[in-house]
Amino acid sequence: MPLFPELLDEKFPLEKTLSSGLKVLVRNLRPDDKDRLWTFFNEIPSHDKLYLQEDLSVPEVVEEWCNNLDYCAMMPLVALVEDKIVGYAILRHEMRTWKRHMGMARMVVHPEYRQKGIASFLLHQLVDLGMHCGLEKLQAEFMAEQEVAMRLFEHSGFVKVATIPKYVIDMTGKSHDFILMVYNMRDDERHAAD
Ligand SMILES: CC(C)(COP(=O)(O)OP(=O)(O)OC[C@H]1O[C@@H](n2cnc3c(N)ncnc32)[C@H](O)[C@@H]1OP(=O)(O)O)[C@@H](O)C(=O)NCCC(=O)NCCS
Repeated sequence: MPLFPELLDEKFPLEKTLSSGLKVLVRNLRPDDKDRLWTFFNEIPSHDKLYLQEDLSVPEVVEEWCNNLDYCAMMPLVALVEDKIVGYAILRHEMRTWKRHMGMARMVVHPEYRQKGIASFLLHQLVDLGMHCGLEKLQAEFMAEQEVAMRLFEHSGFVKVATIPKYVIDMTGKSHDFILMVYNMRDDERHAAD
């Protein structure tokens, strides 16, 4: 059950005027996005980076990341406003593990562009990609403090399925409760035709 890279060409680039009135362009991350992506992660406040699973604000890491894009294993999307990356979302897939029926979703939005509907739109795109790839579930992982993010995922149909106390550590080494949320594709009405 692999990801289907050709879907990225079919679906994107996608222009959308969000209900906030903000016009964004969503497309897959490309090798030539190195500088744009580095600038984006560099502008994410350090408080938010505490909770991120990956910090792409190191130029060498971004360069390696953008040079080794494998759309069969991960579908990274970016939202742009006038050529500036303002949102980043990724659907990951592990083809050879016992998680091969699921995708892992996560995202981050530039602080100046929050509460304008970007994350909701990106998450909708990830769910749609997962659906078209035939995945059965999407999974999202959080630290307990990420309440806004968990609410957003909940509004999009994700359900909290597990809490493990003091299970993960942030960039400073402090431990946090770990929350696992899951979206069941089978519950989606788009599976009604099955
Ligand atoms: C969580 C995050 C991605 C939300 O991005 P966003 O683009 O601001 O989200 P949206 O504008 O689509 O808002 C989605 C919902 O959350 C609400 N919301 C967003 N930010 C909020 C805030 N600071 N306080 C209260 N509600 C908020 C919106 O009102 C909206 O609610 P609705 O669905 O009832 O309309 C963003 O805050 C972020 O990047 N946080 C740091 C990284 C992170 O935690 N990522 C998630 C890990 S997967």
